Amino acid sequence: MTKEGPLVFAVLLGSLRKASFNAMVARALPGLAPEGVTVRELESVRDYPHYDADLQAEGFPDIVTRTADAIRAADALIVVTPEYNYSIPGALKNAVDWLSRLPNQPFAGKPIAIQTASQGPFGGIRCQYHLRQSMVFLDGRVLNKPEIAVGSVQTRVDAATGALTDATTRGLIGQQLAALAEFVRRQG
Ligand code: FNR
Repeated sequence: MTKEGPLVFAVLLGSLRKASFNAMVARALPGLAPEGVTVRELESVRDYPHYDADLQAEGFPDIVTRTADAIRAADALIVVTPEYNYSIPGALKNAVDWLSRLPNQPFAGKPIAIQTASQGPFGGIRCQYHLRQSMVFLDGRVLNKPEIAVGSVQTRVDAATGALTDATTRGLIGQQLAALAEFVRRQG
C-alpha cells in the first residue's frame, strides 16, 4: 500500500538560541521540500518543564499533549538539532522524554529524519546516533540515508539574513526530504 496526496512534515528544533544555526537550517526546509509537502515547526522545546513523574501524575502539560497531537497528525517528523557534548541537547531530550510517557506515544511507527548542524567539522553526527538509539526504544522509523550533518555551518549561511546559502548543503537536504517523502509513501 502506498500513501498518495499531500504530506505534512513536523519539525522539532533542538536549539533555544535566537541566532541558532540549526534554526536557520529548519527555516530553510519549506523551500527545500518536494512539491506536495508542507513543513510545520512544532512549539519550542524551551517551554517544557523538566520531566518529573510527580508532575506527570498531576496531568501532562498542555505543550506535551499539543505537540504529540501535531506529531501524530504529521506524516513524518524531522528533528533539527545541535550536538552537545557528543549527545542530545538536554532541552530536546527532556521534550522527547515527556512525549515518550504519553499513552499512544507519538514516535511509534513515525517516519523520522534527523538533521544536525555544528560549527565544528563533524556536523553533530555523534548526536544523531544517540537520538537514533532513543528512537529504537520508542519504535520510531528513522530514515537511514542520506544523513544530514552540516559541518562548519557558520560558513554555509548568511548570518545577516539567517538564510542557509550553501548550495551543496541545500541540495543534500533537498535529497533527504525527497527520500523522507518516498519513505512515508512506501510505508503507506
Ligand atoms: C557545543 N558544541 C558542540 N559542537 C559539536 O560539534 N559537538 C559537540 O559535542 C558540541 N558540544 C557542545 C556543548 C555545549 C554545551 C554547547 C553550548 C555547544 C558547539 C555547537 O555545535 C555550536 O554552539 C552550535 O552553534 C550550536 O547550535 P545552534 O544553537 O547554533 O543551533
